[in-house]
Amino acid sequence: MEAEGRLAVPVIAVNEARAERAFNDRFGAGQSVLDGILRATNLLLAGQTVVVLGYGWTGRGVALRAHGLGASVIVCEVDPLRALEARMEGFAVMPALDAAERGDVFITVTGVRDVLRGEHFVRMKNGAVLANAGHFDVEISLPELRAAATGGVREILPLVQRYDLGDRALNLLAGGRVVNLAAAEGHPAAVMDVSFALQALAAEALARGSWTPGVHPVPDAIEREVAGLKLAALGVEIDALTPEQVTYLSSWS
Ligand SMILES: NC(=O)c1ccc[n+]([C@@H]2O[C@H](COP(=O)([O-])OP(=O)(O)OC[C@H]3O[C@@H](n4cnc5c(N)ncnc54)[C@H](O)[C@@H]3O)[C@@H](O)[C@H]2O)c1
Repeated sequence: MEAEGRLAVPVIAVNEARAERAFNDRFGAGQSVLDGILRATNLLLAGQTVVVLGYGWTGRGVALRAHGLGASVIVCEVDPLRALEARMEGFAVMPALDAAERGDVFITVTGVRDVLRGEHFVRMKNGAVLANAGHFDVEISLPELRAAATGGVREILPLVQRYDLGDRALNLLAGGRVVNLAAAEGHPAAVMDVSFALQALAAEALARGSWTPGVHPVPDAIEREVAGLKLAALGVEIDALTPEQVTYLSSWS
């Protein structure tokens, strides 16, 4: 809307804040997405191959935690920088069509539609588990999954639907809805506090300040305040720059 000149109000992009990305997306989703999958299936992830589609802040948290639980993790990306980062973090990186044949558990977390579709479903192993952690139920193509399920669909557990493709069956969790909300309880309060503090302080700054219409980043002072409050709540102290260090950092000579 801003690019088209149609944004008439100031907006603070809380979702883009460093503190939001680093904590809510990475550590919150990293834990709660796997929590949802485990509650729905009771799988042992150790020894499984988990395919994470999308290596943004959320996807990297999911990949990190799946690796920590003993899974082999494959990352699929369309952004070369993020794909390279995943590779250098030690994950296998490959196109989704190749990963389709190898994965035991697939987790979409891209914000994009039809990331897993017919051409992937027909390559997957019998019993593969499909879960979506992106916000809308479009990342796994449900129309194409239904079309592929010539043998029908049945619910084998409360949040697990088995799609019978004839020579194999695929297990869809939570109907393709965001799995950590549909099958678990979302993020723990101990990370939502950071998000809500950012939102509250950003709303206060909007109400008190004078802002031009457009999208603004969260002011750095707010990010630092929230991180400082969270550290204090955790009982963690950190160092401060000495005056000499401040002078050094701001000098060019
Ligand atoms: N489940 C949750 O609790 C939770 C939390 C935060 C965000 N989200 C949702 O997760 C999704 C991703 O969020 P994010 O903040 O990580 O976004 P992001 O933009 O940082 O990352 C998305 C990544 O997906 C990649 N991608 C796009 N299309 C792809 C494709 N076809 N195949 C493979 N990779 C592809 C992009 O290149 C990007 O690196 C969004 O829908 C967001 O709303 C969910």
